[in-house]
Amino acid sequence: MTGEFSESWLSLREPADAAARSAELAGMLPEGIHTVRDLGCGTGSLARWLAPLLPGAKRWILVDRDPALLAHAAAITPFPVETVQGDVTELTAADLAETDLVTCSALLDLLTAGEVDRLAGVCAEARTPALFTLSVAGEVRLDPALPEDAAIEAAFNEHQRRTVGGRRLLGPDAPAAAAAAFERAGATVITRPSPWRLGPDQAALTAEWLRGWTAAAVEQRPDLRLDRYLSDRAGDPPTASIGHVDLLAIFG
Ligand SMILES: C[S@@+](CC[C@H](N)C(=O)[O-])C[C@H]1O[C@@H](n2cnc3c(N)ncnc32)[C@H](O)[C@@H]1O
Repeated sequence: MTGEFSESWLSLREPADAAARSAELAGMLPEGIHTVRDLGCGTGSLARWLAPLLPGAKRWILVDRDPALLAHAAAITPFPVETVQGDVTELTAADLAETDLVTCSALLDLLTAGEVDRLAGVCAEARTPALFTLSVAGEVRLDPALPEDAAIEAAFNEHQRRTVGGRRLLGPDAPAAAAAAFERAGATVITRPSPWRLGPDQAALTAEWLRGWTAAAVEQRPDLRLDRYLSDRAGDPPTASIGHVDLLAIFG
């Protein structure tokens, strides 16, 4: 199976992801975390970021529906990990019986409001804290700004909220939906902004991200004419701030 997320894209973004995630929230995690279950792990980037911050965590269970990414994650992570191929929307409280922390990174925008509600309910039932990082928030600031930016941002965000196979994806509504879902489930919720801040040293990531951002916008709004925009951007690469939110949910 060829997944929708490539190893090369996830590897390209790993340093920016690591710099963006909130170490402050990781520092608020309860003591005694031994087993971490990372949902939608991709290449395992979150485990590699979190492991040095949680030296007591000795068991890492990486879950994804894409077997190629799971194999790659196990091959490149410099400590032992267990991999589980599965759909995170089918997680149950029983699956969390031996899990001390549930994590995810750049996942929630791909889920529906009902799926995030259910996930929060499963964590509540198992009394398992959750650290859900890098949920895309939809705000983009580019410097220099160009007049087309606002229309592209709006079209991209609508594209992220599209309905796929009868499932309406949360896209940039994920941070608010997740916070509300965990609060309804009885958790104490703390959030922190975790934007990518891309400077000249991340030109390759910025260029690749711009290609994806504009392609999705044009798919949503074929009337947008962006050839000139893209050549202007290529000639003068912008610095970028791309909004995300990290969330910590703890059950008292
Ligand atoms: C944007 S990638 C993020 C990967 C990784 N967490 C990271 O931060 O680099 C989203 C990942 O979630 C996985 N995924 C999406 N929906 C899923 C689902 N319903 N069940 C399991 N995995 C899913 C994809 O296969 C992909 O690996």
